[in-house]
Amino acid sequence: APLWCVVPAAGRGTRVGGDRPKQYLTLAGRPLIEHTLDRLARHPHIAGLMVVLSAGDALWSGLSELHGKPVRTTVGGAERCDSVLAGLDALPDEVADDDFALVHDAARPCVRLDDITRLIDRASGADGGLLGAPLRDTLKRADAAGRSELTEPRELRWRAFTPQMFRRGALSAALRQAARDRVTVSDEAMAMELVGHAPLLVEGAEDNIKVTTAADFALAEFLLARTAS
Ligand code: CTP
Ligand code: MG
Repeated sequence: APLWCVVPAAGRGTRVGGDRPKQYLTLAGRPLIEHTLDRLARHPHIAGLMVVLSAGDALWSGLSELHGKPVRTTVGGAERCDSVLAGLDALPDEVADDDFALVHDAARPCVRLDDITRLIDRASGADGGLLGAPLRDTLKRADAAGRSELTEPRELRWRAFTPQMFRRGALSAALRQAARDRVTVSDEAMAMELVGHAPLLVEGAEDNIKVTTAADFALAEFLLARTAS
């Protein structure tokens, strides 16, 4: 079964505050999204990319193939979860409902190919899963005045990354259910949890940052160079 990756890239990058959405800002000499797509297309198990763009996106390169893999586009929605659902809906018919699909943020250019491999190997044996990492720092809950109210246990707490991998039909159904319930899910695993699944957490490198603020560009550049191969 062909494994496609949906790449949500329809955000505005408000926290970076650049003159264009962050996926089009320059990182190591190229638009950030090009690094992300390059890594995904180079992965031997990935058959094609479905890039989800905002309506009227004039900055998209028009790329239709990368490393011999098809690159298709569709239009996303107001929230990330709307964009992911649009991407799943636009996948080619060759991707069956029971086939797995990956979802990977355009804003995570530093993902490592070996982590993608490990996710695919482990999550396809389960009913889907996601890359993440156990929490490293002590976790505080703040009150409204920004004072530490209590310390949350760190045990069993993970940060969620992408890629996330689920069966196409099951993920679509879960995202549709969240939309019906008017819940904005922040990742695919959350949608799956809400309909009773327990996605497998697969530990991945902390390199896989989501470029979120202007300062993250320098860090991403360093991490990209370190894992260029
Ligand atoms: N995304 C999307 N559609 C949306 C919102 C986000 O496809 N309606 C994508 C972004 O382009 C990004 C990924 O989802 O690749 C993760 O979202 P985030 O890091 O929040 O990016 P932005 O929403 O663009 O940034 P911000 O929240 O700072 O505006
Ligand atoms: Mg956002």
